[in-house]
Amino acid sequence: MHGREADLVIHGARLLTLAPVGEERPRVGHAAADVGAVPGGWVAALKGRIVETGSGTAWERLDLVKGAVVEDAGGRVVMPGFVDPHTHLCYAGERWDEFAARRSGSDYLATLGRGGGIHATVRSTKAASDDELLGLMRSRLDRAIASGTTTIEIKSGYGLEPEEELRHLRLIARLRAEALVDVSATFLAAHALPLRASADRAGFLRSARAILATVAREHLAESVDAFVEKGVFEADEVEPLMREAAALGLAVTIHADQMNDVGGAALAARLDARSADHVSRISADGLHALERTRTVAVLLPGSPLFVGYEPADGRRFVANRVPVAIGTDHNPGTSPLEGMPVAVALAVSLCGLTPHEAIVAATANAAHALRRGKRTGALVEGRRADIAVLDTDDERELAYRLGARLVREVYASGARVAQTEFIR
Ligand code: NIG
Ligand code: FE
Repeated sequence: MHGREADLVIHGARLLTLAPVGEERPRVGHAAADVGAVPGGWVAALKGRIVETGSGTAWERLDLVKGAVVEDAGGRVVMPGFVDPHTHLCYAGERWDEFAARRSGSDYLATLGRGGGIHATVRSTKAASDDELLGLMRSRLDRAIASGTTTIEIKSGYGLEPEEELRHLRLIARLRAEALVDVSATFLAAHALPLRASADRAGFLRSARAILATVAREHLAESVDAFVEKGVFEADEVEPLMREAAALGLAVTIHADQMNDVGGAALAARLDARSADHVSRISADGLHALERTRTVAVLLPGSPLFVGYEPADGRRFVANRVPVAIGTDHNPGTSPLEGMPVAVALAVSLCGLTPHEAIVAATANAAHALRRGKRTGALVEGRRADIAVLDTDDERELAYRLGARLVREVYASGARVAQTEFIR
């Protein structure tokens, strides 16, 4: 045989390549709904990278190395692994009481203002040992992988105090080093004002700035984030911190206009942020500011569902050609949901994306939100072989069968990292 070498072939698939037309960039317009479906398709990889895709039986000409894995997908959907561009996996303790109280009318931001909410998680996370926290993150990561995630962002942000933030970031770095999937760490530098520093906002932001250099030098994070929200942090207040992060070579991202329009998206645009996240209350000005950038709008529909506010209107972003990604925002306060398939379903039912737009938003565009648009998010030659095999022949089922376990097998860099046995 003189074909191309391969050590993994999945054939007989409804293959969603998400191949870009022309240069790879955040998808808008027609490309934002183009999943690049190939009926009877196949994908081949070698040493963790995709070497070729095609259709029919042409894969038989490949030169299979000894021990190669060859799999017949039996007409099932085979697509890029999901990219979850926004999670807060580094925490201990759940917030059952706060969740229940909200059902009888208590307000999320008012709870935070009274020293609950994020502060409750800060207390329980501080009480957790390194091993406990790492164990919690490992099991959350395993569950994400089992539901098809092959690239995941993880934020710090429940430390608040510099030493505690660094502890969390170092634990995330340990998880990243051992993980079977690609982990992107974010230093959430301004999540809430620590209770004991409540009289000194400027002092807190100075102390957050003071550890940026350590974060950059030790490669503890790729990006820096801030919660820009009414009563939490103002856009102008965090701008110097974010500019300093950028000057140190870190990417920036913003929790922007989640529950109130406070100019968060406009700040993200000014900073050339890699993403502006939540954006449920984005103003027309904020939207127009994003139009002129490559900043990706990350919709996080779990949070409006659990907290009970109006979700982002995805159609506004699509209509204005602002690239849209989606994520789980997994955290104990606003979005305890697990796994990207649920986020896909909610992005369709709550935010108005079409099923195909939501799939692009959960793969190629989410990869762009993490500046990994050329590394993963599509099944094309040269990318990491990050692949999800679904238990359906119609990918729209992801959006339709809310909560169903549709992910059958997951490959990260060409290695099988999850497999689910189904009862038939
Ligand atoms: O993305 N809004 C800020 N951060 C998280 C929630 C944090 C929490 O309530 O624990 C979010 O919604
Ligand atoms: Fe968040």
